[in-house]
Amino acid sequence: MATLVDLTRDHTNLDAEQVAHLKDLVSSWGLLADLSFADLILYGRSGVDTASTLVLLGHVRPTTGTTLYRADLVGQVFEQQRRGLIADCFERSEVVHGTVDEGADRGLNIMAVPVVLNGETVAVLARERTNVSERPSSEQERTYLKVFERFARMLEQGQFPYRDEARLRHRTPRVGDGLLLVDDEGRIEFSSPNAVSVLHRLGMQRGIIGARLADTGLGASILRTAFARRTTVIDEMEGENEVAVVSHCFPLLDGEDPTGAIVLVRDVTELRRRDRQLVSKDTTIREVHHRVKNNLQTISSLLRLQGRRLRSDEARAALDESIRRIGAISVVHETLAQSAEDDVAFVDIVRPLVGVVEESVSSPLRPVSFSVEGDAGVLPAQVTTTMAVVLTELLQNAVDHAFRFEPGEVGPDGRGVATVDIQMERRPDGLKVTVVDNGVGLPEDFRLEESTGLGLTIVKTFVEGELGGSIRLDPVTRGSGTVAEVQVPSARLVGIRDEAQEPLA
Ligand SMILES: Nc1ncnc2c1ncn2[C@@H]1O[C@H](COP(=O)(O)OP(=O)(O)OP(=O)(O)O)[C@@H](O)[C@H]1O
Ligand SMILES: [Mg+2]
Repeated sequence: MATLVDLTRDHTNLDAEQVAHLKDLVSSWGLLADLSFADLILYGRSGVDTASTLVLLGHVRPTTGTTLYRADLVGQVFEQQRRGLIADCFERSEVVHGTVDEGADRGLNIMAVPVVLNGETVAVLARERTNVSERPSSEQERTYLKVFERFARMLEQGQFPYRDEARLRHRTPRVGDGLLLVDDEGRIEFSSPNAVSVLHRLGMQRGIIGARLADTGLGASILRTAFARRTTVIDEMEGENEVAVVSHCFPLLDGEDPTGAIVLVRDVTELRRRDRQLVSKDTTIREVHHRVKNNLQTISSLLRLQGRRLRSDEARAALDESIRRIGAISVVHETLAQSAEDDVAFVDIVRPLVGVVEESVSSPLRPVSFSVEGDAGVLPAQVTTTMAVVLTELLQNAVDHAFRFEPGEVGPDGRGVATVDIQMERRPDGLKVTVVDNGVGLPEDFRLEESTGLGLTIVKTFVEGELGGSIRLDPVTRGSGTVAEVQVPSARLVGIRDEAQEPLA
């Protein structure tokens, strides 16, 4: 679809400043459409003579009423005589009213407003409604239409769109959220029913009409600033009982003089409450991880105490291994406790895990060099814990079984250095982690399915059962050593948060 910039470049002679003015208009004209309950259409002109054509630069539908146009009109080009009213408005640089007979007893009521910048009409904004002969039905409708006319005058005087208007990413209040009209002294002339509700929540029970905006709890400064700077001002305030309200003030100007303002208000109490809840939930989760880590350390200490009392070497070794396994899990919780997220980058866990294993081979006579390659990306906390245990077992097996150190030798087979490489790869179909050692290789009769050691049983149970993945152990293809390869399908790597990504506002 052609953008406003494309269309002005291809069909008009507008310069950069003029195009920027129209862009500003189009980014804030939803307000005008809502106030007029009507479609707004923006026309540009190819030149100034009678032969020039009109191009439809933009269209906005009201959220307060029904649209006349279902189809997309933007980009259409017309002869000037086919849109006489618009051409007339360009020519006279003043508001033109008229009706257009659409046949089949459908007439269009058109108000064409010149969009002026530095005294020059750069475009025409047309408000198109079906021919409504009857008077506007409610006070609200009458008020909104009058306010629209004041904005139309501002367009004519080059005062709308506002200069240096603060543009915000967040959803600012709309007309339907609540509208207050105030006069040049800041007294409330009109309040839409939704605005009345908002003011009630702020503690203002009655006497809204005629009250000063400053006394509503919305604060006095917003209007003062808007009048002084002649542009919009946004503010958020909190009342009693954590009631939170966003207000967006639009000064109404006549020339340079403020004649009043509209203030759109939106009750965001519920939103803010949810924001706060999320923050405190995050802190709670971190605190929980911290405590789990502490508890695991307490368990380790208890086992260590118990181990010292044992006389059997085998029993003591068993306890030492348990302590190591618990250490691996507590590494994960430590990292989770520090991270702001519930998900962690797996690499951040791998280094401390290597540390845990290194401790068990910390004899200068048995140096093992570890290396880490690749990136496993971010994993959900539960997967991280499981993978941490799995990886620790594989690393431990490498240092336990791959290298037969003879006294005085520096590496396996008396040559080179004992190495253990951890390689991680995150692919669209899942995660692959391999641990490669350059040791003596698996025993001749080794079969993973028949292996009854606790370490590999834990690995199999976790990888196949919990993660739905696969594990294999093979001799390295060239030279000696073992490759342990774990694969986890991508379906298991998605956290709860990834699934429930939805905007809050
Ligand atoms: N990297 C490796 N190099 C050589 N042999 C290995 C390697 N990894 C595993 N093995 C062999 O697989 C066997 C089973 O390993 P597993 O981890 O299940 O038990 P374990 O290490 O003997 O005991 P535990 O892990 O309970 O202390 C090991 O005893 C060893 O013979
Ligand atoms: Mg083992």
